[in-house]
Amino acid sequence: MVERYVMSIDQGTTSTRCILFDHGGRLVSVTQREHKQHFPRPGWVEHDAMEIWRNLERIAPEALEHAGATPDQVAALGIANQRETSVLWDRHTGRPVGRAVVWQDTRTDSLVSELNARPDADMVRERCGLPIATYFSASRVRWLLDNTPGLRERAERGDVLFGTMESWLIWNLTGGPGGGLHITDVTNASRTLLMNLTTLAWDDDLLAFFGVPRAMLPEIRPSTETYARASRVLPGVRIAAALGDQQAALFGQTCFAPGEAKCTYGTGSFLLLNTGTEPVRSTHGLLTTVGYQIADEPAVYALEGSIAITGALVQWFRDGLGLIASAPEIETLARTVEDNGGCYIVPAFSGLFAPYWRSEARGIIVGLTSYITKGHLARAVLEATGWQTREVVDAMNADSGLALKALKVDGGMTADNLLMQFISDVLDVPVIRPMAAETVSLGAAYAAGLAVGYWADLEGLRRNWHRAAQWLPGMDPVRRDTEYDNWRRAVERTFDWIKP
Ligand code: G3P
Repeated sequence: MVERYVMSIDQGTTSTRCILFDHGGRLVSVTQREHKQHFPRPGWVEHDAMEIWRNLERIAPEALEHAGATPDQVAALGIANQRETSVLWDRHTGRPVGRAVVWQDTRTDSLVSELNARPDADMVRERCGLPIATYFSASRVRWLLDNTPGLRERAERGDVLFGTMESWLIWNLTGGPGGGLHITDVTNASRTLLMNLTTLAWDDDLLAFFGVPRAMLPEIRPSTETYARASRVLPGVRIAAALGDQQAALFGQTCFAPGEAKCTYGTGSFLLLNTGTEPVRSTHGLLTTVGYQIADEPAVYALEGSIAITGALVQWFRDGLGLIASAPEIETLARTVEDNGGCYIVPAFSGLFAPYWRSEARGIIVGLTSYITKGHLARAVLEATGWQTREVVDAMNADSGLALKALKVDGGMTADNLLMQFISDVLDVPVIRPMAAETVSLGAAYAAGLAVGYWADLEGLRRNWHRAAQWLPGMDPVRRDTEYDNWRRAVERTFDWIKP
């Protein structure tokens, strides 16, 4: 049977999507299912890992069915996933121990403050490239071990396993209860606070610092490599790539050379700059992370500006406030007014990520007068994404010593023309969107296809990249500076809301 397709699974924050791509990088079929967001307490965000697995069990065969394909026509499977979200499960039963704790969850606030106050706290950033923040996996694994009776002992014996979502899915695809493959890839491992960025191995000092037993950790593997053949759901299909979703988007945007960058606009937004085979340490609040590692090659590193809340603010506007019925309506509503009317929204729902890393920050709306309508609020919602992008680009320029000349974008929010124009205006550079909108999925597919020889090399993948749209800057510089200043003053007001 001729292997005609590569399959990718994008296990994201709000849904799981399965896509079949053909050799030209064209989308042949797509299936998707949302999973429930659990908010048991303010600041807590959880997912049911079993629900996510069941969704995959459904959508993967459906994607084949829609294309009239069988598993033996799939050359390889690549997995991209929401990063940092942590799931613990019982090795013997395959059942998750409680719900997965999501990357947006801030329950480890006070633990993080305690850890940051330790005299050896600086060692953490030096080793793993990340600040100690609620965002990353280690503090929530520690929290779970500390707060679930008997769990630490089980974890120390290796009876309870830790993984991010790609680990969980690979475990289940390769055998499930009692016998799956327990692995992760370097990009996902680089988000745990536990991996040494230079050796690409779990670091004993970091494990001791966070109190996480080695026995519960997956084996770290390159991002592209044939790990195993699936034994369930997609029998016989080679699982040949895993990457954090933002790194997958970097790959899908074919940012293979140092200096190339992309920003993906989803629940949050993540700007990654390829910095080559040496990690670059940030002094301006960015993360040093692994971009990808092709098997038998050195890892390629990236600088990352992570923004926690962008699309999630639109969702909140829709579901929390009920001011629009569907996300795309935000643009229509924002266009009913000329400007923000003096109103700014800083969505520090999960603290503030780059470049501030203030876990204790909480969101605010400032500048309210009776003049403000829901149209102004809609503008302020969209502008929050623009200004947060500006802040990470400023940090990126300062760290790299180079000024970004254009920004490649992707993700759901790039369908919003008003927003894309605003981003170009506030960055004062062109914003460019490729034809392939599903960059995360495409990146995972590219990585898997490359591993099995379905695609020959990176240059071939580059030739699949085509520009679909471009926005050019046009904002008056004085207005831009005044607005930016207002935004920053609003941000400062989010810092001290929670009493220490
Ligand atoms: O670091 C979190 C990120 O990976 C989540 O991405 O697209 O699932 O919201 P997304």
